[in-house]
Amino acid sequence: MTKKIGVLTSGGDCPGLNAVLRGVVRASEHLSWEVIGFIDGYEGILPPVRTMPLNRANTAGIMQQGGTIIGTTNKGNFIAKMGDGKKMAAPPDVVKKARQTVADLQLDAIVAIGGDGSLTTALQLFEEGFPIIGVPKTIDNDLEATAMTFGFDSAVACVADALDRLHTTASSHKRVMVLEVMGRHAGWIALYGGLAGGADIILLPEIPFDYEKVAEVVSRREKDGYKSTMIVVAEGACPKDGHLVVAEQRPGEYRLGGIGEQVASEVVQRTGKETRTCVLGHLQRGGAPTTLDRILGTRFGVHAVKMIEEKKFGRMVSYQNYVVMDVPIADAVHRLRTVPPNHQMVETARAVDISFGD
Ligand code: F6P
Repeated sequence: MTKKIGVLTSGGDCPGLNAVLRGVVRASEHLSWEVIGFIDGYEGILPPVRTMPLNRANTAGIMQQGGTIIGTTNKGNFIAKMGDGKKMAAPPDVVKKARQTVADLQLDAIVAIGGDGSLTTALQLFEEGFPIIGVPKTIDNDLEATAMTFGFDSAVACVADALDRLHTTASSHKRVMVLEVMGRHAGWIALYGGLAGGADIILLPEIPFDYEKVAEVVSRREKDGYKSTMIVVAEGACPKDGHLVVAEQRPGEYRLGGIGEQVASEVVQRTGKETRTCVLGHLQRGGAPTTLDRILGTRFGVHAVKMIEEKKFGRMVSYQNYVVMDVPIADAVHRLRTVPPNHQMVETARAVDISFGD
């Protein structure tokens, strides 16, 4: 039986979204299903409804491209999560309009590709009777119920590349270099990127750090003859008894940023070493996906179509033990998967002399 499905990408973009769209389109085509994309995430569902047909022709060659060809937003009428963890639901009139769109377009299913907030909306819509399934995405890799999200590997590759570049300039000038990376309240990007890029100190949200300990490592390295010290700090990291550094407060959400400068200034004060800060920012979200993210995105897109065939609504694609499977969306939202301080990766990092400033 032929079907018509709507796809949307919601929340912050990340490399691999286009691979999912291409996977959905190709797998649907084998079943003679029609696919449309909602423009700018859930916002496209609301009047004036904005869609575009997605087909083999206009998704050809997009797997290698970062971003999303159907646009996204992390603001708007469907905001389902406050930055402080307080939950909000999309209001009844918004849900009513969305329901009308689904009926008018005669959609059999919606594929919502998003992170925690967007999947919370997907869960709400499912509970209100929408035939919706979720595909998890975020560079932060902080979603429960999936071992990995696409976008994370590309962000880690970007951090490692940045460290490679910073290393050469830092050692030429015998400087301390502080690299601030994304990840919100989870330190996965800092941990993996820092390890891959040969950082000397990694500061994570999950391990409160001590500026004295950080300064000790910097001074000891200088005494031992090292020409530079590389510090990776996650944007959500906090010193002991300190607080989160917020770059911008906006309705229902806040944006982290600024801890890198603080770390640099404390290092200068305590060691006298010349120190520079680099905030990697949205470079981590842009550009071509790594091969791993292209493959993961494609697998997620293909599995999403299989889930629709099997009417597995209210569920989300998940990656566990190298297998793509699915779990209830409810298992993934309302909680964050942060780095356990005794995680094997933390122990591995400590074993190769990386300090966590604790
Ligand atoms: O969740 C992805 C993410 O890139 C975070 O790592 C970061 O804190 C945030 O989004 C930045 O959001 P924005 O794109 O609104 O600046």
